[in-house]
Parts: sequence; structure tokens; C-alpha cells
Amino acid sequence: MRILVTGGAGYIGSHVAKALASAGHTPVVFDNLEMGHRWAVRWGPLIEGDLADASAARAALEGVEAVVHLAGYIFVGESVKAPSKYYRNNFVNSLNLLDAMRAAGVRDIVFSSTAAVYGAPEKVPIPEDSPKIPINPYGESKRFFEQALEWYGAAYGMRSLCLRYFNAAGADPDGETGEAHEPETHLIPLVIDAALGVRPPVGLFGTDYPTPDGTAIRDYIHVTDLARAHVLGIEYLRSGGASTALNVGTGSGHSVREIISVVEGISGLPVPVNIAPRREGDSPALVALALRAREALGWEPRHSSLEEIVRTALAWHRRMAKHPPR
Ligand code: UFG
Repeated sequence: MRILVTGGAGYIGSHVAKALASAGHTPVVFDNLEMGHRWAVRWGPLIEGDLADASAARAALEGVEAVVHLAGYIFVGESVKAPSKYYRNNFVNSLNLLDAMRAAGVRDIVFSSTAAVYGAPEKVPIPEDSPKIPINPYGESKRFFEQALEWYGAAYGMRSLCLRYFNAAGADPDGETGEAHEPETHLIPLVIDAALGVRPPVGLFGTDYPTPDGTAIRDYIHVTDLARAHVLGIEYLRSGGASTALNVGTGSGHSVREIISVVEGISGLPVPVNIAPRREGDSPALVALALRAREALGWEPRHSSLEEIVRTALAWHRRMAKHPPR
């Protein structure tokens, strides 16, 4: 199948494109290259365009049978300071994609959602039917789009699978793509780069959380496992699966301090750390109840031990430090 992958030049998108190609599909990447990279588009054609441009979205759907929609801004902290940017890009511009799909008769969409739709949940691990009360505009922009998908489903017969990612991490085990955000705000690359001495000491945001070691807990999922969930998700929709939302996580949580000590152990390098206050918009703990994705998609994590996540990310960041991809 020819599958449109919006945001396919980004970190998760490039791994999704590789996974789709490995499964025999043609990933057609649609990306404005604001955050994505030309070098990360290796498994199918690139259409350079922006979802703000409704006619570009319509043109990109030529010959396409299904869509994976990942394009969007991703920084929780920035979204608190610039909500307009997040609502506009992640929600308003994404509606152009949905309307273009309606016009083209493309019904199936896998959407890149997030654990941030749950906000600061009372119950952890988090089941999919937990209350959706985002605590930052990023999470809310994703929640809005999930809701639009429900109503577009009811009114226009659109079929959707929302994958609520927990913390994507790690890199392609073959070293063909990996994480290269600028600015980088994610914990694991910052810890690795601090160990390698290519970035300053990492700030440890908050040591007073109600967790065993006082630092925040997240569910880290290897990006290759995450990518496979999209391939299975497309197959699920194409074989008549009902529209739904699924957590994509491992079900196990790790604290910030734990991440730092695993990076030190695997790299053999000390990680310089600065203790800092909590970051605005952050939840104390986000861990998936990860059973429904197994049931619905037959998906389970294969590469998501902390050891494999850190090993693949370390290999990628070592290479990036020496030979930045172009
Ligand atoms: N952290 C630090 N120092 C840093 C960066 C992060 O201590 O320099 C901490 C954060 O406070 C948080 C944890 O490390 O407790 C993980 O932070 P990340 O920025 O790596 O990831 P987030 O959990 O904030 O966000 C990620 C994705 C979002 C998604 C969210 C849902 O980036 O898109 O997971 O869980 F919404």
C-alpha cells in the first residue's frame, strides 16, 4: 500500500517509514522539514509541504490508501508558553488533513497521540479509559484531534486508531536513523550527550516528586517497537478493526535517576548533573497499562529493555557526535 506519513522526516516518523517499507508498503513522507531532516527520508518519496496548506494536503493524497499522521509540535514546556502555536499546528492544521482525506475518499488513519492526554492521572498504570484531563496545551491539542477523529468517524465513516505514545526512546538498531531534535529537550539524549561531553551537564528537573527516589517516572518505549505498532495499526484498520485508542508503552516505569545510572553503567562515563526545579507541565508518573494494544494488534514490546534503549541511543549519539548526518 501507498501510505502517507506526515512528519515522516522526524524521529518517530522515520522509524515508522522504515517499518512500513520493511512490511512491503511505500511510505510517502509529507514533511515541512521545520523539525524533520531530509537525511531521515530513506524509505520512500518525500513531499515537502505544510498541513497549513490545504491544497498541498489534497495533492499529497494522490494514490494513497491510508495515512499515518505524526506531524506536529512536540515540546510540552514550549506549549505552556506558546499555546497558540500548538493549537494551530497540532489541531487546526491537522483538520486540513482530515478534510483532504474526506475529499479523496481515504478513510483509514493512524494518529500519533500521547500519554499527555491523561494529564496527571490518579491511577497508574493508566488504562485507556482514564479521564482525559491534559495539563498542558500540547496534550490538549492531541486530545482535541482525537475527539475530532471520533466525530469524523460518526459523521463521515472515517476509521481511526489513536496510538497514545508513552516516552519514545532509543534508535534504529541498524543505525540508519535516530533522534536528532534541535532544540533537544528529551531526557535520554540529553543524559547521553552530557556523558559524551557534547552538551552541558543535564538538568535534573525535580527531586521532590512523590516517587521512591523523588524523581519523575516515565514508561520508555523503544522507537522500533513504537514504529511496529503503526504497521500493525494500519493492518488492523484495513482488516475492519473498529476505531479506538491504544496505549503504546511497556507497562514499566523508570525514574530520571535510574536513567542516569543506566547510561553511566552502559557508557562507562560519569553523567554530570545539575539539580533543578520541576519543569512546568510535567506529571510525576506516566506508566501505561499496556494490555489493549496486545489484544487488539497482537503487539508487544521486543526491544524496550532500558539496556537496549540506552545501548542503541548511545551508539546513535556517538556516531552523530563524530559524523552528523546530512
Ligand atoms: N527531564 C529532566 N531533565 C531534562 C529533560 C527531562 O529531568 O533535561 C525529566 C522530565 O522532567 C521528565 C522526564 O525527564 O520527568 C522525561 O522527560 P522528556 O522530556 O524526555 O519526556 P516527557 O515525559 O516530558 O515527554 C514525552 C514526549 C511528549 C509526550 C510525553 C508523554 O516528549 O511528547 O512524553 O509521556 F507527551
